[in-house]
Amino acid sequence: MKIAADLHREFKISTIDDRLYSAFIEHMGRAIYGGIYEPGHATADEDGFRGDVMQFVKDLRIPAIRYPGGNFVSAYDWEDGVGPKDKRPVRLDLAWRSKETNQVGINEFGRWAEKAGIDMMLAVNLGTGTLQKAREYVEYVTYPGGTYWSDLRKSHGQEKPWDVNMWCLGNEMDGPWQVGHKEAKEYGRLADETAKALRGLDRNAELIVCGSSNDQMPTYPEWEREVLEECYDNVDYISLHKYFGNSSHDTLNFFGKIEETGRYIQAIAGVIDYVQAKKRSKRQVGICFDEWNVWYHIRGQDEKNWKSWDWPEAPALLEEDYNFEDALFVAGLLNEFIRRSDRVRIAAIAQLVNVIAPIRTLNGGPAWRTTIYWPYQMASLYGRGDALNVAVDGPTYDCEVSSDVRYMDISAVHNTGEGMVTLFIVNRHLTETAELDMRLTGFDGASLAMHKVMEGHDLRATNSPDQPDAIAPQDGSGVGVEDGRLKGKLAPLSYHVVRLKV
Ligand code: AHR
Repeated sequence: MKIAADLHREFKISTIDDRLYSAFIEHMGRAIYGGIYEPGHATADEDGFRGDVMQFVKDLRIPAIRYPGGNFVSAYDWEDGVGPKDKRPVRLDLAWRSKETNQVGINEFGRWAEKAGIDMMLAVNLGTGTLQKAREYVEYVTYPGGTYWSDLRKSHGQEKPWDVNMWCLGNEMDGPWQVGHKEAKEYGRLADETAKALRGLDRNAELIVCGSSNDQMPTYPEWEREVLEECYDNVDYISLHKYFGNSSHDTLNFFGKIEETGRYIQAIAGVIDYVQAKKRSKRQVGICFDEWNVWYHIRGQDEKNWKSWDWPEAPALLEEDYNFEDALFVAGLLNEFIRRSDRVRIAAIAQLVNVIAPIRTLNGGPAWRTTIYWPYQMASLYGRGDALNVAVDGPTYDCEVSSDVRYMDISAVHNTGEGMVTLFIVNRHLTETAELDMRLTGFDGASLAMHKVMEGHDLRATNSPDQPDAIAPQDGSGVGVEDGRLKGKLAPLSYHVVRLKV
């Protein structure tokens, strides 16, 4: 398969917001307990945080993390998670039919995020919660001192306020499964009033309103229009969520879901433009794609479990064993986010540890990186800068969910500060090697600085505690710059990160 491509220095899409590479972690399953927090684990620090997990997290250079849910937040009382640990109540978590011990709350999580060097993006409960509860929480978390709520925080040993300015106004409020689910107008009004109160407390707060839970919801995309018409002037982002599966083992159709996601982003961008025009506003609300991932391998079994089990504490839940095909998918989805970084300003992989996650652990045992860790890490480390539009001429295919899907998927990021261009390339073809010939315009003297590759694995192959690094990037070969062109032969079903010094 011959691929002709053009990369031009001036064809800039947008400067990527670093928060495109954020993550999400929820109080569910073993994400917190047994994931990031396990006092007594051989690697635990003085706060009970697992050191092995912390190192894998640090290596991802995550800019921001959404917490504490997710469905969990919609019946969560943040006050249960503060104060002396032995006085904290054990509660029933309605979302996942589990017991929540509240041994980790905002102050513990804040310490973990601080140690990991990650900013927090906190969600307030707009399911069973109220505007009043939300404003008290923000004051507890962010106000320096001398008021009831800030002094309460100090009395809990957290002298300095947490530096948080991203707030999610509830979670998936369109979903009938959500505790406290609401109609669009009803939610839009509540979000608007809550947004005004939170911005009253912090003029610089960035507020994220709930969009649809996914693009297959019966109320999508009317939900977005109705909600935004209520709160457009007072919010900064609208959230998108989408999870992906390939139960039919149709690899090309699976990859076609990335194009479908492009249409989802385009549709919501259109709704934003519509409401912006209707409001005669000069502000453009951004997209915050704050839950995305592959989720299907054990979803059916999990659903049966959590609907029937007897309120266990930190049960194994959504512990997907990601395979090589999932890694290729995640690489492609990140490419789509880079290409749409003009509208998608923030995105968060869901989730981070154990629950549909790039990092897995065993209680009392090792931690390991699943296959999807690697494309996420590559994008986070090397995908910062200006997204460039790459013109790609090559064969395409049609599948159930999309038409004209490119076999060759390329995104490009120019980091002018470092003088580097990074190309993220997926050859989705099942059998054919891609012969790439890319003209590099405006990058005279470009030279190859790095080539990492993931290739040659069975699509169903996974990493495991016994073989934790079976699937990981290797140094690549067969790609080089000649006469101002990047040329190379890229194997079928392969992922490449090519960095050029420019
Ligand atoms: O990430 C798992 C769940 O998926 C979240 O709790 C919810 O927001 C979504 O439906």
